[in-house]
Amino acid sequence: HETELEVKPVAGRIGAEIIGVRLGEDLSEQTIAAVRQALLKHKVIFFRGQSHLDDAGQEALARVLGNPIAHPTVPVKQGTEYVLELNSDHGGRADSWHTDVTFVAAYPQASILRAVVVPDAGGDTVWANTAAAYEHLPSELQLLVDRLWAVHTNEYDYAQHRYVVSEEAVRHHKEVFVSALYETEHPLVRVHPETGERTLVLGHFAKKIVGFSSADSKQLLSLLQGHITRLENTVRWRWSAGDVVIWDNRATQHYAINDYGDQHRVVRRVTVDGDIPVSIDG
Ligand code: SIN
Repeated sequence: HETELEVKPVAGRIGAEIIGVRLGEDLSEQTIAAVRQALLKHKVIFFRGQSHLDDAGQEALARVLGNPIAHPTVPVKQGTEYVLELNSDHGGRADSWHTDVTFVAAYPQASILRAVVVPDAGGDTVWANTAAAYEHLPSELQLLVDRLWAVHTNEYDYAQHRYVVSEEAVRHHKEVFVSALYETEHPLVRVHPETGERTLVLGHFAKKIVGFSSADSKQLLSLLQGHITRLENTVRWRWSAGDVVIWDNRATQHYAINDYGDQHRVVRRVTVDGDIPVSIDG
């Protein structure tokens, strides 16, 4: 039988909690369709109380949504095919705004994140809606960005907000994250392949606007990034162990708040492959 699933918005422009679903590979067609619909509409969906899911269960869930893919440079967690572990003890703190893996041409369409160890307080994640961000730009700014392209690379300033960078983080970045260099160009404005919405494609992997000087790029990127992360476009999630969050990686950015000091935080992510962004010119 089918349980009624409830979709409860968490903030005005982005994010909804889904109640009444036990995630796994055995979801009915009807539930999968409802989850997909909620994901497209709310951009990030939250599920509490999914502690029954282990790594294999999370991978199976990803297969329900599409084709899971491993991170291009960071090795998967041992014993898994696709799981990327972010462990605070080993430099795994994603504390700057980004969309996952935009330094490759066809970056993931969705990410599934599962909380394994959460701090007593702190370590929340915030998501921003990049379709709402575009929609609320003044029309003159929309016209300016509609046909621009940006260069994205994995050689980015991962520690832009840190005063002190741990040796572990430096090592991880040098030896693992940029063990192979990637660089690609994306339209600044992407037409979402399923909703048709225009979304802004930026975040910390965006290095430069094609045809602009680095000084002008920096200013325009910062101006647009400021629009994306206006609090009105965001939702913040207070994690409990066993929570699972799925986001539409084509219409969001996110930021893992690094406010929990030496407390331990472990989350595991599986991404689902996506397609090459299409600009408004097709
Ligand atoms: C990520 O950037 O994919 C992880 C976000 C988090 O640690 O909350």
